[in-house]
Formats: sequence, C-alpha cells, structure tokens
Amino acid sequence: MRGPFRSGIVRKPNESMRLILTTFVGVVFGFFIGVSFSSISISKFNFPSNFIPSIDLTYIEDWRSGLSTQALLHHVWSSVTGKNGSSSSQAQMHDTSKIWVPTNPRGAERLPPGIVQSESDLYPRRLFGKPSEDLTIRPRYLIAFTVGIDQKSNIDAAVKKFSENFSIVLFHYDGRESEWNDLEWAKNAIHFSALKQTKWWFAKRFLHPSNVAPYDYIFIWDEDLGLENFDAEEYIKLVRKHGLEISQPGVEPNNGVTWQMTRRRGDSEVHKVTEERPGWCSDPHLPPCAAFVEIMAPVFSRDAWLCVWHMIQNDLVHGWGLDFALRMCVDPAHEKIGVVDSQWIVHQSVPSLGNQGVASNGKAPWVGVRERCRKEWEMFKDRMAVAVKAYYKDLGIDPPNSTLAV
Ligand SMILES: *[C@@H]1O[C@H](CO)[C@@H](O)[C@H](O)[C@H]1NC(C)=O
Ligand SMILES: *[C@@H]1O[C@H](CO)[C@@H](O)[C@H](O)[C@H]1NC(C)=O
Ligand SMILES: *[C@@H]1O[C@H](CO)[C@@H](O)[C@H](O)[C@H]1NC(C)=O
Repeated sequence: MRGPFRSGIVRKPNESMRLILTTFVGVVFGFFIGVSFSSISISKFNFPSNFIPSIDLTYIEDWRSGLSTQALLHHVWSSVTGKNGSSSSQAQMHDTSKIWVPTNPRGAERLPPGIVQSESDLYPRRLFGKPSEDLTIRPRYLIAFTVGIDQKSNIDAAVKKFSENFSIVLFHYDGRESEWNDLEWAKNAIHFSALKQTKWWFAKRFLHPSNVAPYDYIFIWDEDLGLENFDAEEYIKLVRKHGLEISQPGVEPNNGVTWQMTRRRGDSEVHKVTEERPGWCSDPHLPPCAAFVEIMAPVFSRDAWLCVWHMIQNDLVHGWGLDFALRMCVDPAHEKIGVVDSQWIVHQSVPSLGNQGVASNGKAPWVGVRERCRKEWEMFKDRMAVAVKAYYKDLGIDPPNSTLAV
C-alpha cells in the first residue's frame, strides 16, 4: 500500500474480483429469472417444461429501468462479503439511471470507475502518434531545482549527475525560464515559473503527491550545490539499501555546515545518528542528533513525501522548522532518516532568493528575508505544538514529551 493516492491501483484486484462475481451473479440471476419467467410462460403459453428463456427482453428492460447492474452488483457484493457498505444501500436507493460510485475519489462519484485517473505524472508527451508510444522511458525519480538564471551553469553541471531515470523540474523564481532553452535537457524539463517564490511555495503547489505518483523518490534541492562528488543513481542504491525514507547527501565540512548531522563522514556509506554540542540533544534519537536532515537538499520516498506535503504550510514559504518536524512522517524516524556520506555535496552558499527581499529602514534586502525565515520558524513550531496538543486533548491524555521536542 503506497498511500491514499495509490488506491486506484490497490483496488484493482478487488475490481476484477467484482467483475468475476458480476458475471457469475449475472448468470445465476439470469437462471432464476429464467426459471421464474418460464414457470409463468409455461402456464400461459404452455412451453415445454425444459424450456428456460434465459433471454427475455421485456423482463430485462423492466429490470434495467428499475435497478442497474451496478446496484445489483453492489447488493450482491455486500451480501457475499457481509459488508453493509454505504455503497450498496446508497446504490440501491439512488436513482440508478445516473452513475453514483461512492468508492470513487470524493467529487468524482458521478463517473464510472473505469474512466477515473486520480493520479498524474510529469512526463512530457508528443502531439502526434500513438499515446502508448509517447514515452521511451518512464522516469521513476524526480529532481526539482529552484533556480535563477545566475546559477545556469551550476545547474547545467548538476543535472548531468542525474540519469535519464529522472524527471527534471525547474522552479524559476526570476521569470527567465526561456533563457534555459539552449540547453538540450532543459527542452525536456518541466518548468514552473513564478516571480520571487520559494522552493517550498513551488513544491506545495506543483508537486502534489497525486501529481508525482509514479516517482519512487523526489529530490527537492537548492541551486547552490556542488555535485562533483555525487551520482544520483548510486545515491538511490544506498538509500534503498539503508531503508532511508528521508535523506540528504552529506555536506562537505569546510563549507559552513551548521549541523553535525549533515556533515559528511569520510568513513561510512550512511549515518543516522550523530553527536551535537553538549546540551543540544535531549534525546539521542531526536533532532538535531538523529531523525534529521536539512531543507537544502532533501530526498523523500513517495510515502514520506505524501506526509511531508501535508505538513508544508501554504503561507510559511521558507520552510524553516520543517527539518525538525520531518521525523513525524516516518516511523521509527531515527532509522528511516539519514545522511548519505559516500555521495556527497558542497554547499556553495551563493546569494539567491535570500537576496531578493526589499530594502527597508536602511537594512539590506536579505535582512528582511532572514527575519521572516526566523519568524516563520517560530510560527511553524507554535502551530505544530498547538496541533499536537489539540490532538492529545481530544484523546483525553497528556502529550508525550517527545512529540513536542522541536
Ligand atoms: C445490513 O443492513 C440491514 C438493513 O439496514 C440490517 O438489517 C443488517 O443487520 C445489516 N447487516 C450487517 C452485517 O451490518
Ligand atoms: C535506469 O533505471 C534502470 C532500471 O532501474 C536501470 O537498469 C538503469 O541502469 C538506470 N540507468 C542508469 C543510467 O543508471
Ligand atoms: C516530561 O517532561 C516533564 C517536565 O519537563 C517531566 O517532569 C517528566 O518526567 C517527563 N516525562 C518523561 C516520560 O520523560
């Protein structure tokens, strides 16, 4: 089970089961109709007693107008499974000349399930030819970079570290997306453009889990990363091997690493725990000593992203504080969140969106942006604490200490 958005696929065996059942029921039902009708017929028309009119048009017409096959199916399904699904009762009570399928995605109940596609992808397609032949490869991973034109050559170099198994997405915050088109790979990339918007703003809006359903792993990365010592396919292998649902590559120590956890280690493939400065970690299994990666270059499994997407706040665009809360999305977090040491990156810390604030009161533009980052972090912490408390209050118990350690 890969989360709610997979339900269409998960449901399939059930549906084929239903089909078989319908057919079977249809046959049995037809038989009984036949038998009952034949008894009437016999008395009326004196047919031979072994004549079973399995096709009786008038009856079928009557039957159709009364109760659809679908409703019949629901009815039989629920009596067979013993489930008194709302579906069965609703379908029977509903005007069956119209479609109503309660098990469809909410809002799509009027459609026959066979036509419903509740998930999508970011695969470009052709305008001509057979749709089934559009894709020579179906990328299973996605990398999204948030970019401005100044980082074009850096991103060009970075993209080469991602194989053809990756869908490439660019979030443009400077409105200059057309200036990338001379790069061959950029012609096949998906470009989202909105002036002065952040990575998390874009991700919340354009990487909805149902729109990135085919991807096993989703990379949501900044533009100022040096990838000379990184290979994405190798990275994925390690992430799978070590069962990391949320990860990031180790960061080269010489470049202003803020947290020990994300510091690259020369002697291991992956690490999941670290030691911080004395007093920083109340619990060795909690951030920033474990269950923690930064928001600069995170990688999410499909399931983890499904959760994290829901946690991203629409108005808190800088994402500060998310890193401390990611652990709520996986369990046990200290085993499924980690840093990949043998595929590592350099944080170049070039000025980017952080510089695009507005100068005010004699302060440089970046000051206001930084202030907002800090403010958002506080707001996020407060919202989370309120939400957690409300949850436990509803349950009538005190929150466990660990849930609030942010
Ligand atoms: C199903 O619904 C009917 C009528 O509402 C009720 O009499 C019956 O007990 C229900 N059966 C189950 C298994 O819930
Ligand atoms: C792309 O994925 C396929 C299937 O997992 C794999 O066989 C192939 O080696 C990958 N391509 C590269 C360049 O690693
Ligand atoms: C939770 O925190 C309170 C106050 O900080 C403390 O008294 C209590 O012992 C803690 N409980 C656990 C299970 O650690």
